[in-house]
Amino acid sequence: MHSLRCTNCHSRDAALSPHWTIVADEGRGIPPEGLPHLTYAGEKLRSDWTARLLAGKVPYPVRPYLKSHMPSFPAYADVLSQGLAAEPEPPLFDKALAEIGNKLTFRTALDCRQCHAVGRDQIMGDDKTQISPGINFAHARERLRPDFFHRFVLDPPRYDPATKMPKFIADLKTSKVTSVFNGDARKQMEAIWNFIQSVPVEPEKMPAPVPKSAPPRKGRRRGHTRSIDNRFRGRRPGRGDKQP
Ligand code: HEC
Ligand code: HEC
Repeated sequence: MHSLRCTNCHSRDAALSPHWTIVADEGRGIPPEGLPHLTYAGEKLRSDWTARLLAGKVPYPVRPYLKSHMPSFPAYADVLSQGLAAEPEPPLFDKALAEIGNKLTFRTALDCRQCHAVGRDQIMGDDKTQISPGINFAHARERLRPDFFHRFVLDPPRYDPATKMPKFIADLKTSKVTSVFNGDARKQMEAIWNFIQSVPVEPEKMPAPVPKSAPPRKGRRRGHTRSIDNRFRGRRPGRGDKQP
């Protein structure tokens, strides 16, 4: 990891990335942008997705609001493409649970949509909460391992002390929404997981969850459109579709 300079940008274990201080120094008046740290990457992310990311074959930015970009490492693409070949089918979900999960994500319940876009549905929070946008649930669906999801959502700061996602379930057991599953937080999160699995992956139509005040990003979408088209034609992005 050190030799590939991953830690120039990412924190891992006790090694804090210098990026944090550098971005803070730019003094944009908002908290420094948090790059994902890699300590839990293995248990968080599906290996097929990580392989695609490193090969430069994830056709969308997961965090469109970040200034930094994840470089691709084409030299490793051959080894990594073996991971691509083993890409599993999208997970199945329970429709009834997914519907309950969907309801739980709105303002009247756990309000995940304040910070998370859901496929084509924009983030619902106001300008203030859009400073801490989360990841589109359609992307989360492609990336995450279920075990990680369940542990993470109950206590996000445990995984990343710098995360802007709040801890909703103070005692790790009971949520404030007592009308669903008697407030059983684990069952509610299971329903939300099922909902996330039901979100269609249509990256080209998804809104970029960028704070309204941010300047428009230039040149970011170049190259994406083509690889996305390829996805919809049912073939994997090929050569020339490399991320910028
Ligand atoms: C120039 C800075 C930079 C370097 C160097 C870099 N990364 Fe990244 N990486 C990023 C950024 C920025 C993101 C977030 C991209 C996004 O979410 O849109 C990211 C995301 C990731 C993710 C996904 C993590 C998550 O939770 O979403 C993994 C895994 C990752 N990088 C692994 C690596 C590895 C392994 C290396 C070294 C081979 C590396 N990165 C080198 C900037 C970098
Ligand atoms: C105040 C804003 C906020 C709210 C409300 C919020 N989140 Fe998040 N969420 C975030 C942020 C910020 C991240 C971390 C993004 C990153 O890794 O860079 C995140 C990350 C996640 C992830 C990991 C996604 C991935 O692909 O890595 C999941 C899953 C998630 N949130 C689920 C939920 C659920 C379920 C709810 C409602 C119960 C919720 N969030 C409410 C801000 C929020």
